Amino acid sequence: MIHGLATDLDQLTHALERALTQGIKPKKQCYPYSPFSNGQFVRIVDEAMAIYKNIADRKSHQRPRFLDAGCGIGSKVRLAASRGFHSDGVEILKKYCDIARKVCDRVCDSSSIIHSDLREFNGFGNYDVIYTYSPMLSSASNKAWQMRMAEQAKERALFLNCTAMPTLPYIHQIEYYIAIKLSEPDQKLIDRIKKLLHETQAP
Ligand SMILES: C[S@@+](CC[C@H](N)C(=O)[O-])C[C@H]1O[C@@H](n2cnc3c(N)ncnc32)[C@H](O)[C@@H]1O
Repeated sequence: MIHGLATDLDQLTHALERALTQGIKPKKQCYPYSPFSNGQFVRIVDEAMAIYKNIADRKSHQRPRFLDAGCGIGSKVRLAASRGFHSDGVEILKKYCDIARKVCDRVCDSSSIIHSDLREFNGFGNYDVIYTYSPMLSSASNKAWQMRMAEQAKERALFLNCTAMPTLPYIHQIEYYIAIKLSEPDQKLIDRIKKLLHETQAP
């Protein structure tokens, strides 16, 4: 019963995402959402929060800061905010930014949707967790902004990189990995990340 309800809500979410963006030309066929179910995404951000709490500077009492790099219409920004993050998004298409601001309105008290190109964005260093889902189709372009991000990112930032295989939208063909910027390797943390990857593999 609960499982059926979750599936219905996921289908409703995807239908709303399609309806909200009908008639908007995506950038190079890059659609503004990902095929994750709400439950899968929540598991990923919850695990990121748990890892963050393990490695965070204990003196910091601020909410951890989450960025969706290439946030589309903001559905993941909203979900991350609902799980306790201060959550922002960066998006290149202004029309998607306008929708994302409405999607996040009232739920995310202080979220910003930043209209910017990731290849020129200078704010990566403000975040503890940076999530992305294939914003650009070419792996060379993705690599270019990710190198930039890695240079700016603060130490101990988590990077959740979710990559669609060419055969989208078959969800079992999504690959994702998590990377952490650490000066010293930490075996306990590495084991935890391996567990995360294992547990969040899509069926
Ligand atoms: C596959 S969607 C992912 C949306 C959202 N992150 C999610 O997981 O549901 C990728 C988004 O990245 C945006 N994008 C593409 N190139 C970009 C760039 N250079 N800078 C910022 N956003 C970009 C696209 O317009 C699209 O909305």
